[in-house]
Amino acid sequence: MDRIAIVGGAQLKGEIPISGAKNSAIKLMAASILTDEPLRLTNMPRLADTKFLGRLLEQFGIAVTESNGPDGQETLFHAREISSTFAPYDLVRQMRASFNVLGPLLARTGHAKVSLPGGCTIGARPVDLHIEALAKLGAQMEMSEGYVSALAPNGLQGTEIEFPFVSVGATEHTLLAAVMAHGTTVLKNAAREPEIGDLARCLVSMGAKIEGIDTDTLVIEGVTSLHGTTWSVIPDRIEMGSYAVAAAMAGGEVRITKARPELIQALTDKMIEAGVDIEPTADGVIVRRDPTQRLKAVNVTTEVYPGFATDLQAQFMALMTLAEGESVIHENIFENRFMHAPELGRLGAEIHVHAGEARVVGVEHLKGAPVMATDLRASISLVIAGLAAEGETTVGRVYHLDRGFERMEEKLSACGARVRRIKGDGDGR
Ligand code: UD1
Repeated sequence: MDRIAIVGGAQLKGEIPISGAKNSAIKLMAASILTDEPLRLTNMPRLADTKFLGRLLEQFGIAVTESNGPDGQETLFHAREISSTFAPYDLVRQMRASFNVLGPLLARTGHAKVSLPGGCTIGARPVDLHIEALAKLGAQMEMSEGYVSALAPNGLQGTEIEFPFVSVGATEHTLLAAVMAHGTTVLKNAAREPEIGDLARCLVSMGAKIEGIDTDTLVIEGVTSLHGTTWSVIPDRIEMGSYAVAAAMAGGEVRITKARPELIQALTDKMIEAGVDIEPTADGVIVRRDPTQRLKAVNVTTEVYPGFATDLQAQFMALMTLAEGESVIHENIFENRFMHAPELGRLGAEIHVHAGEARVVGVEHLKGAPVMATDLRASISLVIAGLAAEGETTVGRVYHLDRGFERMEEKLSACGARVRRIKGDGDGR
């Protein structure tokens, strides 16, 4: 198993271009199931997660063709015919979001059998809201032996669904099914994450009728068929936020490009409050920090969009480990999402976790050590901490990182970071 080795202490100087958003790409890929015409996705990130899902789509008979076009990396998905509507455990367990093929398979063919998901080990992460919503759209749902079987031989039926709490996955999954239901579906208390807006706009460009995009109420008038389109994946706001924090942690000056700065305002506001200099540009931000000046501890609470993203919590915690004072980080979205805290502790951070809250007492120095990635976002937080730690930090279980960060070592090294991948065995300890 590969490891990432970081020698801390180098300031970052240069430019980091942001890739297409993983969390958008994998939902857009699922939309390809809905049409027998080609869906061409540009600005496609090449990640372990997009690869997994591509393999699953191929299992359904969908042709997946990667290429480099005039707009960079692209992938063509062509679901001329759906030859199978079975998603086996071995493929779904590798990535939780692959469960979301259930709704579009059902909408396109009237039946599907999909394994219950695996995914990052952050909390229990059930899919009850997804299943309830599909049942409300008229599907007969049955669960046995770890699989969900769904039937809607006469198509799905539009209805009103009010989610009991905000769920990104359940909103997008229901949307993917409702676009081809008979009649109108109203989704209330819908998630407003930018990736859902990206999916909804792509569906509209495929012929879907959706109103209320980017609000918490989506009104979907079902259509009988959708057509192909070309769609550019929105820039990855979590990748952008991660590199902004990395630059602040290491110090120096980094220009982040090909991004949408307004999508991470909750983070940049907190970074500014902590003393980081952030200058918005047309397609990103410039992050500056003099590493001889200590940052100030600030408190953060994760919220649904447009609040502070839970996917940036681990990175911000890494930043706070060296801040002056005490920072309280409150995790509202996922239970058990502090598994990075003991790993940061191995580098010398002082973090006390109690229930959904972490108290970070800033220290003056971190010291490199072997650590282990526990989930996707936690893994980048360890790399970030390693950038400012004295000596060498090695991060094991890098497969978590490869799920969501494209060419991470290359992007950081181009700015002067001393980061390299070590091929081989072991989990880094
Ligand atoms: C998505 C993102 C993930 C991000 C999260 C929150 C993708 C592929 N992943 O995950 O990176 O951290 O949004 O912004 O886009 N829940 C239930 N029952 C359900 C569904 C969710 O109880 O049926 C709970 C979850 O356990 C969690 C909360 O609702 O506590 C929010 O989860 P949700 O918004 O659905 O996150 P994901 O779509 O899984």
